Amino acid sequence: MSTRRLVLTRGAAIVGAASTGLLLPQIARAQSNRIRVGLMLPYTGTYAQLGVAIENGIRMAIDEKGGKLGGREIDWFKVDDESEPAKGVENANKLVQRDKVQVIMGTVHSGVQMGIQKVARESGVLSIIPNAGVAAATGSLCAPNVFRTSFTNSQPTLALGKPMFDRRVRKAVWITHKYAAGEEAGAGFKESFTKAGGTVIKELGLPFPQVEFQALLTEIANLKPDAVACFFAGGAAAKFMKDYAAAGLKGKIPLYGSGFLTEGVLDAAGPAAEGVVTTLHYSDSLDTPRNKQFRLAYAKTFRLQPDVYAVQGYDAGQLLVIGANAVRGDLNSKQALYKAMESVTIDSPRGKWTMSKSHNPIQDMYLRIVENKENKVIGIAAKALADSGAGCRMNA
Ligand code: BEZ
Repeated sequence: MSTRRLVLTRGAAIVGAASTGLLLPQIARAQSNRIRVGLMLPYTGTYAQLGVAIENGIRMAIDEKGGKLGGREIDWFKVDDESEPAKGVENANKLVQRDKVQVIMGTVHSGVQMGIQKVARESGVLSIIPNAGVAAATGSLCAPNVFRTSFTNSQPTLALGKPMFDRRVRKAVWITHKYAAGEEAGAGFKESFTKAGGTVIKELGLPFPQVEFQALLTEIANLKPDAVACFFAGGAAAKFMKDYAAAGLKGKIPLYGSGFLTEGVLDAAGPAAEGVVTTLHYSDSLDTPRNKQFRLAYAKTFRLQPDVYAVQGYDAGQLLVIGANAVRGDLNSKQALYKAMESVTIDSPRGKWTMSKSHNPIQDMYLRIVENKENKVIGIAAKALADSGAGCRMNA
């Protein structure tokens, strides 16, 4: 039986008992003491694997702290958002209005996040973003009840331009899925690469989630740039790297990317990913006790290797535990809850990070290269990088 059905069945049993006058006060109290947590993530489509890794990370962080929030048991509710922006508001409302969740953990896709953001701002329900990097969520549409444990889309690429220039790239082509994530990542790349002295000679793109790259790869071959930089993630990232190699570009025109390009896809991409250089706030090979312990525990629990999505989910779980413990599970104590969540230092596998004023991580960006199916750190591309949170007025 699914978790959601289990919860609903229990709920229905209690409503039935109440209507016949049999409900004991202790049971009613125990029921209302539970915390209702909503997971809104993609479980199908290009980003399906990302959703699973995030859920695994969230559950692992909470289980490590006894499986409760501020001493209270948890009821879980799940919605597959399919990475479909058009259904973002409807899906978020399923959790808030139908399931009466007290916190939404989600999501991956920036367009879908805009739906959650609308519902979170209107309802006041706590929202923890474990991936989607859309700038507005912690910028012009920021809100006291919205926190992010991942990044803004331009953070990784603001750290990419200089290392590329330092590696003698002068003319680059940018290619991406054309939606907020890719466009904001592209703006970060253009800003940092131009500032370093390089020129973006062409910006290419295709609509999400299309993966017909052939015509664009032919155009890249004709343009003959020094390098290509890109934003792709999930299944599309694996296919892009394979198609890039199959088109004969690998080894001729070096491929760089926002680090999502090589996250969770190294088995699927195989040799096509070897040598790809990226920037991101995590790397498999971070040589710290915290990262090693996390990787071991995750692999043991889920029989999978963790990636950045698992780390961001894990940190979302850690943030929720810290907030809930500070208010002994009473998520309605909003002032105290937000204060605790704003002042955290998260002890993450990526390294310790703190929350910016607009509720986005201030974090290091690593320069990585794929070697033997691992994202290996080869430098720090940016130290304690904070997004500006442009346009954020917390109580507007
Ligand atoms: C986004 O849509 O914000 C996103 C999706 C996958 C990886 C990174 C960002």
